Amino acid sequence: MYKAPRGTVDILPADQDYWAYVQQRAADVCRLYGYQRLDTPIFEDYGLFARSDAAGTDLVEKEMYVFEDRSGQKLTLRAENTAPVCRAYLEHGMSSLPQPVRLYYIGPTFRYERPQAGRYRQHHQFGCEALGDASASLDVEVIELALGFLSSLGLRQLSVLLNSIGCRECQPQYVEVLRRHYQGLSAGVCDDCRVRMVRNPLRLLDCKEPTCKLIADEAPRISDHLCPACQEHFQEVQAQLNLLGIPFTLNHKLVRGLDYYTRTVFEILPQREGGQSAIVGGGRYDGLIEQIGGRPTPGVGFATGIERIILNLKEQGLQAPPLAAPTVYLAHVGEAARRAIVTLAATLRGQHIGVLASTGGRSLKAQLRQANSFGVCYTIILGDDEVQRGEAVVRDMAANSQATVSLDSLPAHLGRS
Ligand code: HAM
Repeated sequence: MYKAPRGTVDILPADQDYWAYVQQRAADVCRLYGYQRLDTPIFEDYGLFARSDAAGTDLVEKEMYVFEDRSGQKLTLRAENTAPVCRAYLEHGMSSLPQPVRLYYIGPTFRYERPQAGRYRQHHQFGCEALGDASASLDVEVIELALGFLSSLGLRQLSVLLNSIGCRECQPQYVEVLRRHYQGLSAGVCDDCRVRMVRNPLRLLDCKEPTCKLIADEAPRISDHLCPACQEHFQEVQAQLNLLGIPFTLNHKLVRGLDYYTRTVFEILPQREGGQSAIVGGGRYDGLIEQIGGRPTPGVGFATGIERIILNLKEQGLQAPPLAAPTVYLAHVGEAARRAIVTLAATLRGQHIGVLASTGGRSLKAQLRQANSFGVCYTIILGDDEVQRGEAVVRDMAANSQATVSLDSLPAHLGRS
């Protein structure tokens, strides 16, 4: 027996109401803020993700699905969507459009991670990117949008964590300060952190190992080492969040796992006990477009995992509105009726009435049970006698009543629901 590959899940019909709900809310909130949808391919050139600046990140070193196609081209299943969006921005000359260009995406994303609740090897991201404008108000806009989206789903008790990790000027200076802090401590940190000390010192700050955490707690804060321009930008982000009444917590250890961030970084987490998995992660990436071959162009955005959102909706007891069931179940009794429902179904569907037509030779009782389980509004019962008379019995499922209706007036009768 084959099973879905480890870390992947089938999204069954029973869960589709959640998926449709979340995606519809995402589209609604994006329309409200003027973000337009962009769909990029599921696989991209390997080099788009494995840029020299990205060396040392878990994403590139451990998590990407990399393969060669039949022509020998090295490709990667997309491991995140910000670089593909930036690639598309450059490829389609979007820098000549009025800036910022506001885009959003919804789609599968692939990471070879250790699967657990809320962490999969294929997950689906909804994300927004605003390109071509460095204003702090855009950082605030994407945070507000992400929160607006989550609260439109009914999610409550969320925390916003915020930090600034500086720019190309001040971040390297801070990294030196951090290296000095860790000098002589390599015996006290985990194996991963020993590698980070050399390759990616900022990530030392968010190691989850208890002993490493203690050392990171004592580390110098990047906020004390920002250049004046980054300092001003960060102050402005905080001032505007306050203006909007959006509570946030400054967290000097928040650095994010991807390489491209500059200045603002943020995460949104559930407040529940042990709720350590971020629902939303994002920030500013003013150097990324240049790294992939464009002119220096600022950008800011976020992404959220739809699976994690649905887990949180269920944990908070929030139901998605059920997807509309077909209006009608067509049951038949007898040979002539079995034939007649084929054309009747076609006629009703032609009138935009959703129909589930009974197949096979089940008893009427079994057909009625099935109609009930599908949640239809009406069950139409057609027997051979009714076919002869040009009539049908229409059962209103909610009212638990039934009436005999001529076949000609069925669409009008059902339209009265
Ligand atoms: P990220 O924090 O790596 O950021 O992922 C964003 C969100 O995707 C996470 O907060 C989480 O909800 C979800 N997620 C990530 N990995 C998994 C997984 N293995 N299983 C289930 N859900 C997952 C990014 O990807 C950045 N591109 C976000 C961004 C956009 N920054 C700026 N713009």
